[in-house]
Amino acid sequence: MPTSMVAGNWKMNTTLAQAVELAAGVRDGAGSLAGVDIVLCPPHISLQAVAEAVRGSAVKVGAQNMHFETTGAFTGEISSAMLKEVGCTYVILGHSERRHLFGEAETMINKKVHAAISGGLLPILCVGELLGQREAGETEAVIERQLQEGLSQVGVEKMAAVTIAYEPCWAIGTGKTAAPQQAQEVHAFIRKTLEGLYGRSLAQESRIQYGGSANPGNAAELLEQPDVDGLLVGGASLKGKDFLAIVDAAG
Ligand code: 13P
Repeated sequence: MPTSMVAGNWKMNTTLAQAVELAAGVRDGAGSLAGVDIVLCPPHISLQAVAEAVRGSAVKVGAQNMHFETTGAFTGEISSAMLKEVGCTYVILGHSERRHLFGEAETMINKKVHAAISGGLLPILCVGELLGQREAGETEAVIERQLQEGLSQVGVEKMAAVTIAYEPCWAIGTGKTAAPQQAQEVHAFIRKTLEGLYGRSLAQESRIQYGGSANPGNAAELLEQPDVDGLLVGGASLKGKDFLAIVDAAG
């Protein structure tokens, strides 16, 4: 089993001062929590300060997005090298908010996955169905396509750098968590799909996180599922105490 990972996606919810304070609290509280990879994903503008705040601790830093080109005329965008330079280890790619609010398509997300790995970052590739797709019985087809297209031309060696996050869109920020059994069913399907693409051993070692209204009250039950290897936490990661309680549940 892979080591479990709990990542906090702060989205566009922290100022610089709030981000540094939150990061320092997680750093101090995480000291005694072993066996879990902890990642904080603040807004881009706070990445460097958060990386400095957690330097020397086990807490890692991730970005919420990046561009697929390395340099050039791409107003408003940020490259993998820039993220590395300020202390990022991870980068979230294909988050449902990027897909559905900003129109990111599979081909773009796939380019980002390649660029992140080439740039020495570890991508957290998000997949997940919309409510209507679930109700229409399309969940597996949607997830399979997102995996196939998002990971197109990503070979076995590169794939070792990738974490998958299953984030059902209907559970994000809604307070409606997927039932542990629902999450497990999709996670098992993701692992089976990875096995088809990459073989059994890589599929077994791949880390598959769940995200969508995870909180201290439901974390343990979700993490007990055999194919849930960690959590990608939004709202509850904005409160240091709650985030640390979730990390504790993963340990
Ligand atoms: P919530 O935990 O707020 O539902 O957000 C989940 C998420 O989108 C993490 O990336």
